Amino acid sequence: MLSTILAALAGHVALTGGHAIHKRVTTPAAYASNSDGSYALTSITAPVQGAGSPGSESTWKLTIDDTSSGYKQTITGFGAAVTDATVTSFNTLSSTELNQLLNVLMTSTGADFSLVRHTIGASDLSGDPAYTYDDNGGAVDTSMSGFNLGDRGTAMAEMLAKMKSLQSDLKVLGSSWSPPAWMKLNGVIDGSTTNNNLNDGYLGSGVGSAGYSSEFAQYFVKYIQAYEALGANINAITIQNEPLNSQAGYPTMYMFDYEQGDLIQSYVGPALASAGLDTAVWAYDHNTDVPSFPQNVLNTASQYVDTVAWHCYASSVDWSVLTDFKNSNPDVTQYMTECWTPASGEWYQASNFTIGPLQNWASGVMAWTLGTDSSDGPHLSSGGCDTCQGLVTINSDGTYTLELAYYMMAQYSKFIPTGAIILNGSGSYTYSGTGGIESVASLNPDGTRTVVIQNTFSNDVYVTVSTSSGQEWSGNVPTESVVTWVLPAV
Ligand SMILES: *[C@@H]1O[C@H](CO)[C@@H](O)[C@H](O)[C@H]1NC(C)=O
Ligand SMILES: *[C@@H]1O[C@H](CO)[C@@H](O)[C@H](O)[C@H]1NC(C)=O
Repeated sequence: MLSTILAALAGHVALTGGHAIHKRVTTPAAYASNSDGSYALTSITAPVQGAGSPGSESTWKLTIDDTSSGYKQTITGFGAAVTDATVTSFNTLSSTELNQLLNVLMTSTGADFSLVRHTIGASDLSGDPAYTYDDNGGAVDTSMSGFNLGDRGTAMAEMLAKMKSLQSDLKVLGSSWSPPAWMKLNGVIDGSTTNNNLNDGYLGSGVGSAGYSSEFAQYFVKYIQAYEALGANINAITIQNEPLNSQAGYPTMYMFDYEQGDLIQSYVGPALASAGLDTAVWAYDHNTDVPSFPQNVLNTASQYVDTVAWHCYASSVDWSVLTDFKNSNPDVTQYMTECWTPASGEWYQASNFTIGPLQNWASGVMAWTLGTDSSDGPHLSSGGCDTCQGLVTINSDGTYTLELAYYMMAQYSKFIPTGAIILNGSGSYTYSGTGGIESVASLNPDGTRTVVIQNTFSNDVYVTVSTSSGQEWSGNVPTESVVTWVLPAV
C-alpha cells in the first residue's frame, strides 16, 4: 500500500516536474542483449522474489553481499576510446544525426557512457599522416612555440566538449601514443623501433642529463590547457600508451618502469601542479602480465600516482592480477582502459572484458574504440589496426549502426551508474569450452541494486540470486545473453 502511494506520488511529481526527477523504483526489471541481436537492451520478464518456477530448466545459484561487509570499489563509469577515427567518422554525420547518436551514447536515452579515453595526437586509429601537437617540422622546439592542436586535435576537443554538455558526470582520460618526434632519440613519431625512447637522459645518450624531460612535461600542460579552453576538461592522463610496446607501424614509444616513475615524480607531476591543473596521472596503461611495471611506478611516484590503467591483450588474460594488485596496494584505484571489439570477436567479448575487471576491483572499463567508419577506420596505412570495429559504425550513407559490442557494454553502463558500489559475490563460473554463468552486482546511489548476468551456455538458465540482506530473486536468463536485473531498494 505504502509503496503504491509512493509510486503514485513519484509518478505525479515526474509528470508535473517535467525533467530530471526519477521515479522511486519499487518493482524489479530485467533487460537483455543476446548473441543474435534479437534482444538489444530489450525489457524481458522481471525476476520474482523467492525461488520462482524453474520448471525443467537448468538452474544456477548466485550470492551477493549487499550489506556493508560486501562493499568493494566505487564506479566511475564505462565507455570507449574517442580516437581520430571516431571523431572523423562522427563528423561525417548530419548535425541532427550526430546529436541523436551522442544522446544515445552519453545519456540515459541509451548507454549513458560517462568515462571516455581519448588519443593525444595520432594513434593507430588515425588517418595519414601521423602527427602530434608540436611537430614543428621535426625541428627542436624547446620554447614549445610551435604547439598547436591542429585540425584533428581541435575537432577532438570539440567532440569531447559536446559529450560533456550531454553527460555532466563525464570523466576523460587522455593518453599519448608518441610525443613530438624531436623529443625522441630516434627523431620520429613512427616508422622505427630503433632508439624508440624519450630523449630524457635515461639511456645515457640524450642531450644533457635530463634531455627533454621538462619539455615532455610541458607538452601535457599545454595540451590540457588547450583542451580546457575548448570546453574539454581532462580528468586524467597516461603519459605513454602501452609503454612496453615499441612498433614501427604506428606511433609508439618504449618506456621503462622506473623511467615512467621518475618522469611523473620529477617532471610531469610538478609541472601539472605548478600550472594549477588537477588532472591526475595514471600509471602503466598496458597488459596484466607485467604488474611489476605499475608497482614500480607507484613506488617511485607515490606523491602523484594512485591509479593504474590495464589493457586486455596479455596472451592469457587474467583479471585476478587486479585483485592481487589491490591486496598489495589497498589504496589503489584501477581501470580497464583498453580492449578492442573486432567484428570477428565472440558475441560476449565486450561483456567479458567488462565483467572480469569489475569482479576484480576495476572502477571503470573502456572499449577500443567508440566509433569507426564502415572499413573499421580511418587508420594509418603504415600499420594501424584494420579490424578494430567501433561500438558504433558510421555508414557511408550518413546513418549509424550500434554494434553488438555497444549493447554488451550498455548492459553495464546503463544500469551501474557513477557512484555505484560493486558488491562482493560468489557463484560465477565458466567451464572451459562449454560456457558458464558470470555475474557482477552493484548497490546504486538511489538504493536499487543491479545484477548483471552473462550466460554463455547454449541453453536458458534459471538463476536464483540470494542476498546477504535476506532476499532471494529468481528469473530466466536466456541462452547466449547478458541480462541485467534492477532490484528495488531494500
Ligand atoms: C573471457 O575472459 C576470460 C578471463 O576473464 C578469458 O580467459 C577468456 O578468454 C575470455 N573469453 C572471451 C571470448 O573473450
Ligand atoms: C567475498 O565473498 C567470498 C565468498 O563468499 C568470501 O570468501 C570472501 O571473503 C568475501 N570477500 C570480501 C572482501 O568480503
